[in-house]
Amino acid sequence: MPVALITGSARGIGAAVAARLRDNGWDVVAADRDPSPVGRPVICDVADEASVVALIAGIRISEGRLDALICNAGINIRKPLADLSLAEWSSVLGTNLTSTFLLVRAAEPLLRAANGAVVTIASTRAHMSEPYTEAYAASKGGLVALTHALAISLGPEVRVNCVSPGWIATKGPAPSAMEHAFHPAGRVGTAEDVAALVAFLVGPDSRFITGSEFVIDGGVTRKMIYPD
Ligand SMILES: NC(=O)c1ccc[n+]([C@@H]2O[C@H](COP(=O)([O-])OP(=O)(O)OC[C@H]3O[C@@H](n4cnc5c(N)ncnc54)[C@H](O)[C@@H]3O)[C@@H](O)[C@H]2O)c1
Repeated sequence: MPVALITGSARGIGAAVAARLRDNGWDVVAADRDPSPVGRPVICDVADEASVVALIAGIRISEGRLDALICNAGINIRKPLADLSLAEWSSVLGTNLTSTFLLVRAAEPLLRAANGAVVTIASTRAHMSEPYTEAYAASKGGLVALTHALAISLGPEVRVNCVSPGWIATKGPAPSAMEHAFHPAGRVGTAEDVAALVAFLVGPDSRFITGSEFVIDGGVTRKMIYPD
């Protein structure tokens, strides 16, 4: 059975990806700082080098192979620039960007042996911004670039692609009718929408795709907006 490791799998997009891959016949390892509901749960801080090394060593021993790695764990700290401490900046970069470097570096031998696939979860905020989102935007822009760098270094054995979601309703109040209608697709996204794309990118039908970014946002980044 192919093995997939999903980070940030306790809730939201990561939990939906874990459930989708399990339903597609994958053996799932689910890593989060909190307990995950699907697969073999592992408590791991993806920003911590020793924690990531232990996670991959555990997979080598328990599952013996790794066919897909989905780097999904992420945080956002939104604060005016003057109030954002270096520690906060570093924690966003560490969780959202450096974690992917740590995970792929540790998992490279297993991924190469399996002719595996990596999917990074960035954001449309890699390309567009609201005020006071510097750390998050920089981390996600870095992930888009890290994705193509890894695709060139790890090919042809390992494919590496990036998924950039727009608004996906995973937490907070339910979107209003107006917020749904703002989207050219007619609605805000769901975690299952993202999980379906990830399942395609780690599956056999995407074998010719590597180094690419896939925006999944209901069309919002293609919508031209002028002031009234
Ligand atoms: N929801 C959206 O609208 C949206 C849009 C664009 C991108 N994204 C990205 O998708 C990913 C998932 O988003 P979500 O909405 O499901 O988030 P979420 O906050 O619901 O879940 C994130 C998960 O990551 C885990 N996590 C955070 N830091 C961690 C760490 N250091 N080590 C291990 N686990 C850690 C959390 O415990 C949590 O379970 C994130 O990378 C996020 O930036 C989300």
